[in-house]
Amino acid sequence: MPSVYNWQLGREMTYRFDHAAPQWQFAAVFNINRCLACQTCTMACKSTWTFSEGQEYMWWNNVETKPYGGYPQHWDVKTLELIEQAKPGGQTWGGNPASDAPYGTYGGSTIFEAASLGNVAVGYLPTDEEWTSPNIHEDSPVATTALSEGVSLPEHQTWFFYLQRICNHCTYPACLAACPRNAIYKREEDGIVLIDQDRCRGYRKCVEQCPYKKPMYRADTRTSEKCIGCYPRVEGSDPLTEGLPMETRCMASCPGQIRLQGLVRVDEDGTWAEDPDNPLYYLVREEQLALPLYPQFGTAPNVYYIPPRWVPRPYLRQMFGPGVDDAIAAYERPSRRAQAVLQLFRVSQSIIFSFEVIDGPKIAEINVGGRPLEIFDDTVVGYGRDGEEIVRVNVREPQYERPIQYLNTI
Ligand code: SF4
Ligand code: SF4
Ligand code: SF4
Ligand code: F3S
Repeated sequence: MPSVYNWQLGREMTYRFDHAAPQWQFAAVFNINRCLACQTCTMACKSTWTFSEGQEYMWWNNVETKPYGGYPQHWDVKTLELIEQAKPGGQTWGGNPASDAPYGTYGGSTIFEAASLGNVAVGYLPTDEEWTSPNIHEDSPVATTALSEGVSLPEHQTWFFYLQRICNHCTYPACLAACPRNAIYKREEDGIVLIDQDRCRGYRKCVEQCPYKKPMYRADTRTSEKCIGCYPRVEGSDPLTEGLPMETRCMASCPGQIRLQGLVRVDEDGTWAEDPDNPLYYLVREEQLALPLYPQFGTAPNVYYIPPRWVPRPYLRQMFGPGVDDAIAAYERPSRRAQAVLQLFRVSQSIIFSFEVIDGPKIAEINVGGRPLEIFDDTVVGYGRDGEEIVRVNVREPQYERPIQYLNTI
């Protein structure tokens, strides 16, 4: 089996195919700290792509309450158990973080390395019952007073958080590797992973071996379907942006402004090509504010999360890897440049390919963790694919005062 480099694991791993770098890679950053669980993203996807008969339980975008919720139920715990069985106690990280291995080196088995003969990955098929309740355990908290590490603010003893999930359009997709019909492909132009509906025969190996359980079987067509990365929008086919690449439905509709989506360049070895002016590259690789979901699965997912500040660290470390503490520290005391880039979330429907920060005056000095943090009213400018300016916003958000005659009216 070929060996590929997975920068999230800091090492080579086995995969069914050699690495083939797409021209651009679809990627996104989700800021968990800001999510309202309003499910606008969920309904935006549902009403655009999966409204037909036979697609009733397809929620390509879902927002689940952790730790108890999940769609399908228990998807993460069950897959974690499978890789744990392959190498008990192995889900540990060692080595020293380096520029090409920012989280160190993963010592356990990936879903590919844990596979038995004849399978490309470990996995399981969820039961019908596990697919029936997309928002089960919404807002159910857990108390973790018995944690050995103890809990201190900003962590909470009673907690839950919302986890927003779409297909990760993985660099090494397990669904693609698992399909005996070769019906799944990764697009050369943007790295979006699609299921060819004409080739699919409903074998469901993709459903079984995607660790994130994002391909979903449709009984009436006997094929599987999944998030299509809103590829017509990403291609720029929507007239609204006049040919410019456009953010997806679930990203563009988010009232919590938690999502930033775009395209990044990928090197031949699978790492992200250096591009510090790309806002996604900047947040993920330069500042390391956002982390992959269950990197130990080994598919190199391309959706990244700014972890929730209030959740006990052991839970977050098993979910996002060893970069959690640094990511939360960087989010609590964002650098001057990061403060500006965080303003770019949800300010434009067009994809922002690069940004520039123009210095402004100092407007405040606040105390964070006993140390001063300066705030500047810098301006951040977002540029599109061809270098054209598409948005300009300030760190200081505008305030609007409702005229007295309109108080308490709509
Ligand atoms: Fe969260 Fe945004 Fe989705 Fe609402 S639309 S649930 S804020 S990700
Ligand atoms: Fe395939 Fe699952 Fe990765 Fe999506 S998240 S590309 S369905 S392995
Ligand atoms: Fe749905 Fe598009 Fe979001 Fe995928 S990217 S979950 S297809 S809205
Ligand atoms: Fe292949 Fe999945 Fe269809 S395994 S045949 S794409 S159901």
